[in-house]
Amino acid sequence: MPTILALESSCDDTACAVIKENKIIANLQAGQQIHESFGGVVPELASREHMKHIWPLVHETMQTAAISRKDIDAIAFTRGPGLIGSLIVGVNFAKAFALALEKPIIEVNHMQAHVGAHYIDAPQPEFPFLCLTVSGGHTQLVFIKDYLNMEVIGQTLDDAAGEAFDKAAKLFGLPYPGGPNIDQFAQQGKPVYEFNKPGVGDLDFSFSGLKTSILYFIQKEVKKEPDFIENNLEDLCASVQHTIVSILLEKLKAAADRTGINQIAISGGVAANSELRKRFQQLGEQEGWATYIPKFEYCTDNAAMIAVIAHHKYLVNDFAHQNIGPLPRYSF
Ligand code: KG4
Ligand code: ZN
Repeated sequence: MPTILALESSCDDTACAVIKENKIIANLQAGQQIHESFGGVVPELASREHMKHIWPLVHETMQTAAISRKDIDAIAFTRGPGLIGSLIVGVNFAKAFALALEKPIIEVNHMQAHVGAHYIDAPQPEFPFLCLTVSGGHTQLVFIKDYLNMEVIGQTLDDAAGEAFDKAAKLFGLPYPGGPNIDQFAQQGKPVYEFNKPGVGDLDFSFSGLKTSILYFIQKEVKKEPDFIENNLEDLCASVQHTIVSILLEKLKAAADRTGINQIAISGGVAANSELRKRFQQLGEQEGWATYIPKFEYCTDNAAMIAVIAHHKYLVNDFAHQNIGPLPRYSF
């Protein structure tokens, strides 16, 4: 079985992992604090930070894994979806390193990799399973038939769930990324405010209306009470979180009912949310599902999930050509 070095650089974290005989033996990342003062990721700065971090990070990851260049059988990388400037750094580094080592390259779809986070540790879901992938850029319901055989059966028509958390946090004056902050304040609050849930049909999602609904509500209340946000921050966070989690779980239940599948998983950055994790497990008990949530560090962006998909691609000789480029929009 192969030893693969995998790179992830789709957004603002540079990440590198090594998988050996289907076990993750190193999983490191370098975050980017530079964006904090801007209230969101600045693409050009993200690209430059990746360039600074990538080589030292690869070096450190190989040291942690205690491997040398000759031990590497293939180099894997995130091809997309993601920010073009960020992807370019990872894709080109992987291609150049592989050329120097005379080893093959393996391209990985970042959203498939979020599902692949479930292949890292036992217990793993049995095939076929359903996965709700909720991140800063995507919200997808995925039907997984086999390691590399998956189909999107529902997705957001506008904003992603993580974006809804981040935009709400911004309205409340909380720093980026807002999701973890909302989660923290929500723990001391109660979901006393109601926001309109979107009326999109079938298994699709919509979150842009929620942002507008929160904005109008706040504008109205602040007119009556200027310190409304500060005085009610915990309850506001709890209410927003409760609404987003309810929308996600309603659709997940609809997908489970529709497909008759009871192996159900969640993944992506928003799967780190404490209310989503708790209510997902409660719903699972009620519905008789076997539920799966990846370890915390495999929910948010990481290279271990890229490595594990690459491992399965290696086994079926699914290698990429050296003329491959990044794909900022990459559906599967
Ligand atoms: O998967 P991810 O790390 O990156 C993307 O591929 O986008 O997801 C990042 C998103 C951000 O929107 C962040 O606010 C959200 O995940 N997030 C959370 C929590 N932790 C991260 N949202 C709600 N509660 C959390 N605890
Ligand atoms: Zn992601």
